[in-house]
Amino acid sequence: MEKDRLFAGKKEKKEPFQFNREVAEVFDDMLNRSVPFYWESIRRQAEITLEYYQDKSRVYDLGCSNGNLGLLILDRMKDRKFTLIGVDSSMPMIEKYAKRLRENHDQKPVRLVCGFLEDVKIQNASVVLINLTLQFIDPQKRDSVLTRIFQGLNPGGILLLTEKTVHGKQEFNDLQTRFYKKFKLENGYSELEISRKREALENVLCPDTVETHEKRLKQAGFESIDLWLKWFNFASFIAVKK
Ligand SMILES: C[S@@+](CC[C@H](N)C(=O)[O-])C[C@H]1O[C@@H](n2cnc3c(N)ncnc32)[C@H](O)[C@@H]1O
Repeated sequence: MEKDRLFAGKKEKKEPFQFNREVAEVFDDMLNRSVPFYWESIRRQAEITLEYYQDKSRVYDLGCSNGNLGLLILDRMKDRKFTLIGVDSSMPMIEKYAKRLRENHDQKPVRLVCGFLEDVKIQNASVVLINLTLQFIDPQKRDSVLTRIFQGLNPGGILLLTEKTVHGKQEFNDLQTRFYKKFKLENGYSELEISRKREALENVLCPDTVETHEKRLKQAGFESIDLWLKWFNFASFIAVKK
């Protein structure tokens, strides 16, 4: 696995953060060192997918990146018949995912789409996953993304949503920010790398509060919502369409 040294160089890059080839090359190391409980979270999402999957329906992974979650789902679903649709706007990520599929899961029913998730029609879905991706979508479009997901889900289907969040109360927001920085320092990022990445992500990653997510999920039509995993500023929701 290539080490993430993207923000460690002598020359500071001033461009906004993008999921380009450079990022795709070091993505797993970046996730390991900057997303608390990343593997635990996606492992459980794959298991929840297995529980809620309805025969002959589709699973959508919106913002699928290089396929970590998709590959776990393939593993858990074993011989069950299903279609997994992975959508990502980054071609380097889709290429990485496709390569992994060729190497490990040649015959599996995965359709990869390089495009914007806002444009994807959701149909006959029993599980929709958006893992750490809604935060990159224009905030004005987030309501309609969730409404379209709700409409495309079959009754009994679920949305699994994981996001980096902010806290509405200053005291807890500060606490979350400090502990998140501590987590990254403990994982070998320097103060300089942390502050450069924060700048690069400004106006690119726009987090909401947990309350905003819950309100949006309710407005989209979901009646049954649970926050099943929370670590300071990271939150994972399950929302069921009744
Ligand atoms: C933090 S990564 C997601 C991680 C991934 N879901 C996982 O479980 O490992 C965010 C992904 O969303 C993609 N993305 C950002 N905006 C998008 C959009 N409008 N439509 C589709 N994908 C998008 C990026 O290219 C990137 O691969």
